[in-house]
Amino acid sequence: MTRRVMTRRVTIACMTACVALSTSASLGAQSARAPFEVPAWAFPTAPAPSPAPKPDSVVRHRVPNSTRSYTMRQVGNGFDIPDWFPASHPPLPSSVQYGVAPNARACGFCHLPDGQGRPENGTLAGLPADYIIRQVAAFKNGTRLSANPVLSTNSMHTLAKWVADSDVVSSARYFETLALTRRNRVVEVTRVPKTRIEGMLYAYGDKGTEPIDGRLIEVPETFARHELRDPGVPYITYVPVGSIARGRRLATRGPAGPATSCMACHGADLLGKDAVPPIAGRAPSNILRQLINFRTGARHDSASVTMAPVVEKMTVRDMVALAAYVGSRAPKR
Ligand code: HEC
Ligand code: HEC
Repeated sequence: MTRRVMTRRVTIACMTACVALSTSASLGAQSARAPFEVPAWAFPTAPAPSPAPKPDSVVRHRVPNSTRSYTMRQVGNGFDIPDWFPASHPPLPSSVQYGVAPNARACGFCHLPDGQGRPENGTLAGLPADYIIRQVAAFKNGTRLSANPVLSTNSMHTLAKWVADSDVVSSARYFETLALTRRNRVVEVTRVPKTRIEGMLYAYGDKGTEPIDGRLIEVPETFARHELRDPGVPYITYVPVGSIARGRRLATRGPAGPATSCMACHGADLLGKDAVPPIAGRAPSNILRQLINFRTGARHDSASVTMAPVVEKMTVRDMVALAAYVGSRAPKR
């Protein structure tokens, strides 16, 4: 894909979001929202191959440090998910392991059994149960959309319409008890290895490098292990030189004054405080997308208005810096 296509303008599908905003926030606040262009590169999406190739059910695959093996057909089964490291988590509730066919796939299929998640969906380990329940409700009632209109009809929005309330509660209580253990490696560069887009993720592409050009690019160290849904695969995030220090300054001082310091609400170590979710050590590409979602009003449920003044004047450069800093913090005490 050429750079021209990558940086093309994405029109913000703000119809629903903006209508709802005018009822939930003052019109003054809405008009104060400076124009903002959604960076298309922050929302990688490649069309699924059609027809979908039939997954192999013969060859058994392995991942490092696991005694188990699965075929690609088993790995791709959203109604009885692969569990490479059963000793790494308590017994899985049925909602996390099996879901309910044909429409409500198991939470652990995408967010992984230990809740470490994948950059394209998000980490559930350690999020407060109430927060998880509220987010699923927001996906369902359309107050949590994506700034990329294609993704506003993604798996989570569809799933939220089908999943039983009792299954959301059982999975939320389960994920709340888990600790986020994956450590993000954030690397500052002027040139980034060339990448390709796979589904909703970047993967290493052709040999060689290209200018980072203000972007934040998160890739699995090995795409094959990501595809095997291996929770142990390391992810690397490339950001422009100077991002982490800039992010630390913005986070501490607050992008719009002390009341907007990330620590003021998310806690001194960014590990969450009361109802405010933990953000330290979560996938930087997902933190970036959430900041964009708040900034454009795509995320506009009643609790998310707290984030509105924080993101109101942020530039993409600020968001990349904050995502790099926050994502590189220790994910647990
Ligand atoms: C088929 C894949 C898939 C399945 C299955 C799935 N999710 Fe998700 N989930 C996603 C994606 C993709 C996102 C990111 C959406 C976004 O931010 O726009 C997401 C985001 C979330 C978030 C927001 C996390 C955050 O940090 O804000 C929560 C909470 C969540 N999912 C809960 C669940 C629960 C509970 C289940 C099981 C009942 C579940 N998900 C099953 C794909 C999935
Ligand atoms: C005034 C309080 C407040 C401040 C200041 C604040 N946040 Fe938040 N933040 C929240 C609340 C509340 C939520 C949950 C919103 C919801 O429930 O939809 C949130 C959610 C988030 C999320 C989404 C997490 C997820 O997994 O879905 C991110 C990312 C985030 N904040 C980043 C930041 C950063 C970076 C800063 C500093 C620049 C910051 N926040 C400052 C209150 C705050």
